[in-house]
Amino acid sequence: MFELDKLIAEHNLTQQEMHTLIERLDDGMRKTLYGAAGELRDGIYGRRVFMRGLIEFSNYCKNDCLYCGIRRSNQGAHRYRLSPEAILEQCSVGHEMGFRTFVLQSGEDEWWTDDRTVALIRTIRTAFPDSAITLSIGEKSRETYQKYYDAGADRYLLRHETADDCHYNRLHPSDMRLADRMQALTDLHEIGFQVGAGFMVGSPFQTTENLVLDLLFLKKFNPHMVGIGPFLPHSETPFAHEPAGTVERTLDMVAITRLLLPEVLLPATTALGTLDSEGREYALNAGANVVMPNLSPQENRKDYAIYDNKISTGEEAAESRAALEARLKRAGYIPEYGRGDHTTWQERNYFA
Ligand code: 5AD
Repeated sequence: MFELDKLIAEHNLTQQEMHTLIERLDDGMRKTLYGAAGELRDGIYGRRVFMRGLIEFSNYCKNDCLYCGIRRSNQGAHRYRLSPEAILEQCSVGHEMGFRTFVLQSGEDEWWTDDRTVALIRTIRTAFPDSAITLSIGEKSRETYQKYYDAGADRYLLRHETADDCHYNRLHPSDMRLADRMQALTDLHEIGFQVGAGFMVGSPFQTTENLVLDLLFLKKFNPHMVGIGPFLPHSETPFAHEPAGTVERTLDMVAITRLLLPEVLLPATTALGTLDSEGREYALNAGANVVMPNLSPQENRKDYAIYDNKISTGEEAAESRAALEARLKRAGYIPEYGRGDHTTWQERNYFA
């Protein structure tokens, strides 16, 4: 059977078939691919789009990833760190707006020790027992992840970035290893988190074979969430002059991911919305079903600059949710503010 039909029917492809499919995609095939991904999503989640409030609470980072604008060696970055009280306040603002998932994202900031992080999670867990807490704060030991989970965190986002060892080493300094990242993802999964993996599309040195490995890794690892966005250059990084990823390739990856993992929670990412003002709608029409409006304090948003021109106002901003909702409805979707757990999620008793 032709690869695309096989992918649609069986949610599976071999490495060779995946490679052939990606290289052969043309406008007609893309229409079929995106349509099939959207229909599969509709059959499972309907037209609901899950809304998450994203709080970027610190841009201090001990890592030096070559692509990232908040890398340690970017001396030009204006660093900020929200206090626990300020984070709680943003959760309150978000809860008032209706959000029932808070995504707490930061660089790998050493001020945030295990004790401080655990105290924050407990406070949010107690104040908002009806809300999901998602962490996106990088690589930690299994013991640390377990503490976060026990304190009441539900989900963890940790993109694998690329599933190819050599490619990983070209995007990261030598003190970072793909094996560590994979171990962290495994630990999170085993502890019981809903786990998000993901990768950038069009990152420097990326080949079609790399993308194939990313997709096959996702199929095998079976994460609950997958973040896929285009690489976008940041002027104060070694990749300042590298070309951005394309909308088309990013949508290809979103749609194939939906077909490989029918039940996955798949965001229309900010990076895609930055690259193209209609990027979010395109992603939804290619099988995505999550949006993450920015709930950081307005004065800090410009400083969480992982790439140039990152959008944080207008429909990207939580406070403009009416405009975003109108846009989603116009595109035929229904904004959903509930926790929006993965279909396999089982309720926990946080206070046991
Ligand atoms: N372009 C696109 N995405 C980026 N990220 C970091 N830097 C960039 C960039 N320049 C992504 C990484 C990271 C996530 C939080 O943001 O995939 O995991």
